[in-house]
Amino acid sequence: MTNTIPTAMEEGRNRQNPTSVVPGVSPQLYSLADFEQIARLVHAEAGIVLTKRKAMLAYSRLAPLVRQSGAERFETFLNRLDDDPALKTRTISALTTNHTYFNREPHHYEHFQSEVRPALVARAEQRQAVRLWSAGCSSGEEVWTLMMVLLGNDRQAGEALARRDIVALASDLADHAVKSAQEGRYPAEALDSVPKELRAAWCQRDENSLVVGPSLRRMVRFRQLNLIRPWPFEGLFDVIFCRNVMIYFDDPTKERLVLRLAQRLKPGGFLYIGHSERVTGEASALLRCVGPTIYQRVGAGA
Ligand SMILES: C[S@@+](CC[C@H](N)C(=O)[O-])C[C@H]1O[C@@H](n2cnc3c(N)ncnc32)[C@H](O)[C@@H]1O
Repeated sequence: MTNTIPTAMEEGRNRQNPTSVVPGVSPQLYSLADFEQIARLVHAEAGIVLTKRKAMLAYSRLAPLVRQSGAERFETFLNRLDDDPALKTRTISALTTNHTYFNREPHHYEHFQSEVRPALVARAEQRQAVRLWSAGCSSGEEVWTLMMVLLGNDRQAGEALARRDIVALASDLADHAVKSAQEGRYPAEALDSVPKELRAAWCQRDENSLVVGPSLRRMVRFRQLNLIRPWPFEGLFDVIFCRNVMIYFDDPTKERLVLRLAQRLKPGGFLYIGHSERVTGEASALLRCVGPTIYQRVGAGA
């Protein structure tokens, strides 16, 4: 018999080859070839790099979707994605890492409060527009912390400020994350790291949860947005937080993104990135470092 080679191998997959096996998972269900297909997909669609060490992570994140779809093997599931854009989107979302928490990297908020907030408040009081962006906001802890710091401890002054032309965009690739961000409901202890006065002024208690109050909500717009695709809005920002998003990208993708972010800052505007992220490439000419992982757009007065 010459034709005993399995179909999978005709497709370039060798499920019997030990190097194609993900330890602990039946190769009939999920193989390294499946992982490689997943890695190609998430890189092409979201810029996210998954190394082979993430093969089990990808398995555990996608297994529930595979099960729900009724497919018996990852290969069958993956081959359906091109004909099912909604399922493809859910698959990519499931592969994102959404870890975040309130008051993460507090030195950023301290810098914002002492060096940036006073000018933004003055501008808002002069009826000028103030624009902020939490790019890769995950479930919202970042944008809500930022907006609480912006409104400040003084409830009356903060309420007045919230009625000015201040808008924050909070965007993420993952739909489920954007929904949680918008819901703005967190276990009360999740906000323990936020100064008590800010929590008390801007959040409301609901049993064991804290719910973001109406003054904060009025200022924030939520969008599902892929940062590596064109951005469907115009305008420049005073402040951009894009933290712990680029760590998942390869170097050229990081460089392109940080350049695009820099180009979206007003002269003198500020970019905050994650503690393990760097500004490299062309963006370096537009940004000067003003603190650990804090950059200011060069130009008028900066
Ligand atoms: C680790 S969280 C960081 C959340 C928050 N910025 C922080 O520092 O705590 C990374 C977020 O980036 C989002 N993300 C990854 N790739 C993205 C892309 N191409 N476009 C937009 N968001 C993306 C993920 O969905 C995830 O919610």
